[in-house]
Amino acid sequence: MYPEITTPADYLDHYKKSVEDPGAYFAEVARSYIWIKPWHRTLEYDLPQGFIRWFDGGQLNITQNCLDRHALSHPDQPALIWEPNDPSESSRQLTYRELLEAVGRLANGLRQLGVRKGDRVCLYLPMIPEAAIAMLACARLGAIHSVVFAGFSPESLADRINDAGCTVLITADGFSRGDKFIPLKELANQALAVCPQVRHVVVVPRTGPYKPKNAREILWNDLLAGQPTQCEPEPMEAEDPFFILYTSGSTGKPKGVLHTCGGYMVWAGYTLRNVFQTRPGEIFFCTADVGWITGHTYGLYGPLLNRLTTIFFEGVPTWPHSGRLWEIVEKHQANVLYTAPTAIRALEMLGGDIPDQYPMTSLRVLGSVGEPINTEAWHWYYTHVGKGRCPIVDTWWQTETGGILISTLAGVTPSVPAWATLPLPGVQPVLLDDKGHEIPLDAPSSQGYLCIKSPWPGMMRSVFGHHQRFVETYLRRFPGYYFTGDGAIRDSRGNFRIIGRVDDVVNVSGHRIGTGELEDAINQHPTVVESAVVGVPHPIKGEALAAFAICSEPPLDSSALRSELRDLVIQKIGRFAVPDFIYFVPGLPKTRSGKIMRRLLRKILAGDSDLGDTTSLLDPTVLDAIRKIVEQDCKN
Ligand code: WT7
Repeated sequence: MYPEITTPADYLDHYKKSVEDPGAYFAEVARSYIWIKPWHRTLEYDLPQGFIRWFDGGQLNITQNCLDRHALSHPDQPALIWEPNDPSESSRQLTYRELLEAVGRLANGLRQLGVRKGDRVCLYLPMIPEAAIAMLACARLGAIHSVVFAGFSPESLADRINDAGCTVLITADGFSRGDKFIPLKELANQALAVCPQVRHVVVVPRTGPYKPKNAREILWNDLLAGQPTQCEPEPMEAEDPFFILYTSGSTGKPKGVLHTCGGYMVWAGYTLRNVFQTRPGEIFFCTADVGWITGHTYGLYGPLLNRLTTIFFEGVPTWPHSGRLWEIVEKHQANVLYTAPTAIRALEMLGGDIPDQYPMTSLRVLGSVGEPINTEAWHWYYTHVGKGRCPIVDTWWQTETGGILISTLAGVTPSVPAWATLPLPGVQPVLLDDKGHEIPLDAPSSQGYLCIKSPWPGMMRSVFGHHQRFVETYLRRFPGYYFTGDGAIRDSRGNFRIIGRVDDVVNVSGHRIGTGELEDAINQHPTVVESAVVGVPHPIKGEALAAFAICSEPPLDSSALRSELRDLVIQKIGRFAVPDFIYFVPGLPKTRSGKIMRRLLRKILAGDSDLGDTTSLLDPTVLDAIRKIVEQDCKN
């Protein structure tokens, strides 16, 4: 039996088997891939210690499963279709054979630069085919890629390069997103000034001819020139590190989430196939950038593992016209469209008559990811994009989980607007109360902390270089469980609805922003003494950011100071993290022990007059002062 789920009865049957004997179930799944050496033990774990091993003793290389086998059986099938930002530029296609060859040449080039198994390579690239080629070439060599989203600032890039100890950076000269030009190489240069261990900088000439400026730079084309297309895949242990992807948490610097080779591959392939019910040869359009986990798992690895054709889109959904996304669906005959609620809501604002002009008959399934999808957006997506004939899968997961954990299976299990619904086989979600007790299935009200009871193959294995941080962040709060950081509710049939983060993480347009990280950036301004950042509901972005800052003296020109703070955030983190609202306040609501009560700030912003019990505050009068400042601002 290949674990393929095509009926509701299959789902129940698979789920039961996967929970009774996860090892046996996923061994069956894993056997459908090419392994260089079989594993001897499918699963071994001790969750509170952060010890998780799947397919121990097995050896593989994911690129054989993504490329070689398809290049042999279907050499001329497109593996990747690239749609440029500017529709007047031609799109590009790479067949499985061509992609395998390009990957082989780059891998040989990188090997010549000295890149070896276990070395870290940073990618700071736009959505171009070279990003896919570079990721796969690293995988071919067993080098660990760390993709940094091209919207991050030089300081963020430098922090990530240094934390991972990357010795090679692959970047591009520049690119445009919509009508905005991003001088990527200049940004990279600022970062490189403080990254002495980077030995080589490979530059993709995206905007025109590029000449290397110094000894450590090498042009992409020069690196590939004369390289053979064949490159032996490095045999990887199932639990060898595969890639690092940084993500923000509630405290401290971003964490380098570490995924490993075997489990990630199995999970990426399995979840994509079953959630989206794809067949080999289909066209899969995931709009996420490769700089995020969705771009890794469902933009690249998952589609290739399933012999799909993946669409890489460099631009934005509404440029140069409001029907661009629908135009791409039609142009490339996409069968699946997978995007974020924030994009759906932004497109919805432009009116249903725009997608109505595009029949999009190729579409079979629609997906949503990154944040809760509200009922209205769900219906709009279903009616105007799916024309009432495409099931919607609301997929809940995280950078840490590697792939989807809770979702409807398209057309197989029932979908309910705003509900992620049921766990995938192998996933045992539970709701815990404040004391860490499991809320029983028959409890009258089932709302709690969403935790997962036992490991699934795609689970993160560590925080790169800081294993203790992995254990403390995810595995110690509720011993014996993986803690997601989300709150959820559950109905009597076991369906889950995700409510959102219960920690100090804000989800802006599907991007995770740690409030602590943002406060650290704001506090670096010489006049800011202290600050607090909270999320507020926003009709399109899901959540917007509001910052409250205490200054050493009242600002003379608050709008000038606001723009200085915005610039500071752009410099420290990136434009996407700039707060929508900045208030200068005389104090912050703090407990006697010094903890900022962010909950009260959120209530003031919501115009809620009932702040509840404020007796634990050091100085409750500060609340009135803050309220006046917020109200004043609303009137302006
Ligand atoms: C956080 C993870 C999953 C890849 C993209 C984001 C929120 C994600 C959903 C959903 C409600 C969702 C959660 C989660 N989230 N998907 N379908 N419904 N919330 O990955 O940056 O690691 O963020 O996104 O709060 O914890 P990420």
